[in-house]
Amino acid sequence: MQLRSTERQLGCALALCFLALIPWGIPRARALDNGLAITPTMGWLHWERFMCNLDCQEEPDSCISEQLFMQMAELMVSDGWKDAGYEYLCIDDCWMAPQRDSEGRLQADPQRFPGGIRHLANYVHSKGLKLGIYADVGNKTCAGFPGSFGYYDIDAQTFADWGVDLLKFDGCHCDSIQHLTDGYKYMSLALNKTGRSIVYSCEWPLYMSPLKKPNYEEIRQYCNHWRSFADISDSWQSVKSILDWTSSHQERIVHVAGPGGWNDPDMLVIGNFGLSWDQQVTQMALWAIMAAPLLMSNDLRNISPQAKALLQYKDVIAINQDPLGKQGYQLRKASNFEVWERPLADLAWAIAVINRQEIGGPRSYTISIVSLGRGVACNPACHITQLLPVKRELGFYEWTSELKIRINPTGTVLLRVEKRSHTSKSLI
Ligand code: GLA
Repeated sequence: MQLRSTERQLGCALALCFLALIPWGIPRARALDNGLAITPTMGWLHWERFMCNLDCQEEPDSCISEQLFMQMAELMVSDGWKDAGYEYLCIDDCWMAPQRDSEGRLQADPQRFPGGIRHLANYVHSKGLKLGIYADVGNKTCAGFPGSFGYYDIDAQTFADWGVDLLKFDGCHCDSIQHLTDGYKYMSLALNKTGRSIVYSCEWPLYMSPLKKPNYEEIRQYCNHWRSFADISDSWQSVKSILDWTSSHQERIVHVAGPGGWNDPDMLVIGNFGLSWDQQVTQMALWAIMAAPLLMSNDLRNISPQAKALLQYKDVIAINQDPLGKQGYQLRKASNFEVWERPLADLAWAIAVINRQEIGGPRSYTISIVSLGRGVACNPACHITQLLPVKRELGFYEWTSELKIRINPTGTVLLRVEKRSHTSKSLI
């Protein structure tokens, strides 16, 4: 396809306008220098699905026990999760015994984790996976187990000795902002001092924001990912509230994300009970756009083939894990549609259009191609593949053309836009 030179000039001018319209094109802050989470962490985390179930008598299959994690580890390997990139098997709250040991160290509940955490870590490592654990910066964990305040060095060393690979550090039961801030920083340094590579997952901004505006540039220097918003639950209401919080704060958070440090909108709840198929598609697509850690919280022993295929969808995971490491943002919101976009490596873009209307049937949305990717994604032309809800090659589009898509209520169409010309079929 050949463009006339006036069209080309207009295209370039438009592209510059779009670039100027993005106010948060600020350079990224320095990341925590531990060499980890170069792309968003992928794995499984027990909290949303299994919570704090301590009753192994009545519910042996869903209580928080070493058996649960061993079963998940096996399935992560045998059912293709590890091959798809899900590597970290993470324990959340409620693994601890109610008291520290005589030397002040945390210990696992002896009934539910008879082999102890070191044994579990060895097992998880033997499967080629990594183990995550949970602790709290304050006096107690959110569920009331021993907190790390006053024990940061001991706890960091204990986790390193056990062979732990990730720490989720919660922020309950802190007395002050100072305690919260200093505690999160101190633990980061304590983990580094152990010499073991341990991904550091924080909830610092979530607990800080009611009291003081979080400084995300500073948080990025200490944490590999950080939660800013309330816990996810298994509902569309919850997923929507996370998307709304993210878009309404994007000027503050998007530019901070990048290799080594990511905004964490919380777990994937795909494969559970509360989301319709279209809503699960929306969660997968938008977590890819947001460069979010992909930590599933579901039951891998009992998951539908459809949810499994969605969670293991290579092309969507590739967007989440894109090496350019730039988080996407909401581009436009009108008539109950939202358009989000994310710049990718090799001048490609991911585009997600959500139909936020919760009444009626599928609705059509017309994308003006020139508006995509800050005006440059399709200048002068591009190739578009629809990835979700089903994969379809949509073909070549010129920068002046339009694309009409249909989207189910609460569903999303996810597109990959590549800069290829019609004739050469190669990168422009
Ligand atoms: C907080 C966290 C959750 C989970 C629970 C555990 O609410 O935000 O992700 O870890 O504590 O008690």
